[in-house]
Amino acid sequence: MDTSTRKLYRGDCLEILQDYIEPNSVDLIYLDPPFNSKSNYNLPFRGKDRTHTAVQAFVDTWTWTPENDVRLAEFRRSGEPLSSIATVIDFAQQVEHIDVGQRRHESSLASYLLNMADRLMAMKPALRDTGSIYLHCDPTASHYLKLVMDAVFGKSYFRNEIIWAYRTGGVSKRWFGRKHDVILFYSKSDNYKVNVSKERPYNRENKPYRFSGVEEFEDEEGRWYTMATMRDVWEINAIGRTSAERLGYPTQKPLALLERIIDASCPMNGVVLDPFCGCGTTVHAAEDKELNWIGIDISRFAVELIRERVANNFPHRLRHDRSISMIGLPETVSDARDLAHQDRFEFEKWVCGRIGANGLGKRLGDRGPDGGIDGIIELYTLVNQKVVEETAIVQVKSGNVSADSVRALSEVVRRTGSVAGIMVCFEDQMSTVDNQRSRDVWSDASGTYPFIQGFSVESLLDGNRPILPPQYGKRRGARISG
Ligand SMILES: C[S@@+](CC[C@H](N)C(=O)[O-])C[C@H]1O[C@@H](n2cnc3c(N)ncnc32)[C@H](O)[C@@H]1O
Repeated sequence: MDTSTRKLYRGDCLEILQDYIEPNSVDLIYLDPPFNSKSNYNLPFRGKDRTHTAVQAFVDTWTWTPENDVRLAEFRRSGEPLSSIATVIDFAQQVEHIDVGQRRHESSLASYLLNMADRLMAMKPALRDTGSIYLHCDPTASHYLKLVMDAVFGKSYFRNEIIWAYRTGGVSKRWFGRKHDVILFYSKSDNYKVNVSKERPYNRENKPYRFSGVEEFEDEEGRWYTMATMRDVWEINAIGRTSAERLGYPTQKPLALLERIIDASCPMNGVVLDPFCGCGTTVHAAEDKELNWIGIDISRFAVELIRERVANNFPHRLRHDRSISMIGLPETVSDARDLAHQDRFEFEKWVCGRIGANGLGKRLGDRGPDGGIDGIIELYTLVNQKVVEETAIVQVKSGNVSADSVRALSEVVRRTGSVAGIMVCFEDQMSTVDNQRSRDVWSDASGTYPFIQGFSVESLLDGNRPILPPQYGKRRGARISG
């Protein structure tokens, strides 16, 4: 990669797109925004004591606000495409009114569409003339979003409605299994670059047709096929509970899906942008292909998770250098103190994401579902040549650390059946942790580790991590050879 762009932004993609992204600088935008599912997405964690803890990753609940009224009035007053989008939003409000009797101004669908319209309009200038955008959504919102996309990008630049079909559990007997998502593919102009790959349709009965002028091939099992331009219906496995790439982030998409989109629409040395990048599937796929990438997510936790994901998967390229720019997250001790002061739960989430822990997503006013746990690190340790799943408990202190809280951490670790406890605090509190912590240790095949350790925010910002054993992949019970 010559002039590499690897940038992770934490913030609302509307502001980041408007303030930071150069016009005409991006070849491919893939976005997988929340779908107005009216759900809050959690990361599930089950402790060894069998208690369940919900870890909130992001919220997908929309309500119509007074600001939405003001913005919709602006849409109406403006010329195209905003006035057409206002018509779509009016329609969505009417439909929800007829359907569930909601008062017009309560429409969550309309609020969602208004928010998406503003963000899609901010994405358009970022694209080069030769670029393309893929909007990933589900059938409950796709028909409305397509109208918005027609208004923003132009109906004549619509290229495909890609159906991503998969098989996952959970079906109702009252309708056919809802097992596909919709990906709307638009180009910025007619001058767009695309590389549509081929697929293998098998001949009927797997026998050769022998039509003149048609090239046919036989696979290893003696089945005959031709090579045809790939269709817009893609069967790709979703991330299942046993998928090797599964990170536990809700709505994580499979790498194979992103690889196909990138192969089609990002040229060599091109730039891929994902403005709702979640746990970073797009970023991972782009890094694997040595392309430039920009990821944006509103969640500090997600952005830190992506940094870890990329560094863990491409250690030779990224582990030891600072080639990923992180924007919108604390970079100095004073930034970290500011965040701790402004919102201690956001501070906890940032720390947890950065050290690879599942944060528990508490909010102001919460006491927390599980006293003394702010995050959990899943460990895959090696014992007797077998991978054993363990956990370490993380507690984050934004201010003073008391002797009692250090002693209490040992109890929480024992109660949850975890192997280690990590107390994260600012450097000036570390002496309390060191003086009060248990001196017990635990071991696996790789060595001996402290049962309770203190870890400073200063050290975290220097790029260090708590003392933990090397990780051996995710498969429980997997055997390690050699
Ligand atoms: C459906 S998930 C994306 C999943 C992703 N494709 C993956 O494979 O991991 C949507 C993401 O959008 C983020 N998000 C929601 N609103 C946002 C906004 N206004 N700006 C940026 N990110 C946002 C959420 O935090 C969440 O991580």
